Amino acid sequence: MATRTPKTTLKADKPETKIYVGDCRKIIPRLSPAKKQQVDLVFADPPFNWNVKYDKWHDGMPREDYLDFTKEWLDVCVDALAPHGAIWVNIPDDTAAEIVMHLKHERKLHMVNWCVWHFRFGQNRMGSFIMSKVHVLYFVKDPKNRIWNADDILEPSDRATTYFDPRTMNKKEGHGPSGKRVPMDVWYGQYWGRIQGNNKERWKRHENQLPEVYLERVIKACSNEGDLVMDPFTGSGTTGVVARALDRRFIGTEYSEENAKSAFERIVEKGAVRVGQGHANQSTAIFAPRSRSKAAQDATRV
Ligand SMILES: C[S@@+](CC[C@H](N)C(=O)[O-])C[C@H]1O[C@@H](n2cnc3c(N)ncnc32)[C@H](O)[C@@H]1O
Repeated sequence: MATRTPKTTLKADKPETKIYVGDCRKIIPRLSPAKKQQVDLVFADPPFNWNVKYDKWHDGMPREDYLDFTKEWLDVCVDALAPHGAIWVNIPDDTAAEIVMHLKHERKLHMVNWCVWHFRFGQNRMGSFIMSKVHVLYFVKDPKNRIWNADDILEPSDRATTYFDPRTMNKKEGHGPSGKRVPMDVWYGQYWGRIQGNNKERWKRHENQLPEVYLERVIKACSNEGDLVMDPFTGSGTTGVVARALDRRFIGTEYSEENAKSAFERIVEKGAVRVGQGHANQSTAIFAPRSRSKAAQDATRV
């Protein structure tokens, strides 16, 4: 197991943003907000053990070692969470089941959603179906005491945009207003693809950058302005970029010093390119609008 200790702390203010260099399993337990269980939201996109070149981290452990590593980082993150805190994990098929079992049965957390991030342009293969999704696991310590900002993540419903159903405009309390609803648990759409090529979000040094809309949805739904968001695997810094843009405090840990410096530059100097433009709240309908009279369409326009 890697034993590097924190070497560099990259810091900025307004809101407080910090990145620690080293192994998250060693660093997080030593951080004061973690010791005091003051972290409101953890978002974790760990190495998948797929032999990706991560500068310093070796992404090809024996399977048993990888499972031990997975439980260790999960434990330090869960220990850092506030009683009302939430942890989200981005993980492919290989290890989703083990993570769910660990969080549910060993750590007694409550699973609120098992979402799926669907993307096009998975890597081509002939021997099995092409991978086009990653699991997005949402757990909380206490289902009766959690941050859930439904109003901040609403999107137009298909009933409104595709079927012009007037009932959707007249929802009773507890449902989305004006033809809107909470997004479904499969996430896709414009700006939801993997960040590649000349995408304007793309940052140097990293092949596994998540789209900003994804973090925008998670951070808006499960934290408030001024709250503390933590990412144990900072990578190119997407969580920090979005947290800062949304006025949340941020702590990241990153094993590679070069990646950490690069992420810090992205977070503090480049900043977000899509957050706040409504992209995370746009319709994800996949069928063309059904033809209806102009009057019916006007009545249900969102
Ligand atoms: C999948 S990438 C994260 C990508 C990130 N979500 C983004 O959007 O850019 C995983 C990152 O975790 C780092 N890492 C791997 N093991 C680590 C550990 N034990 N502690 C801290 N960081 C680690 C790797 O160097 C890599 O940059």
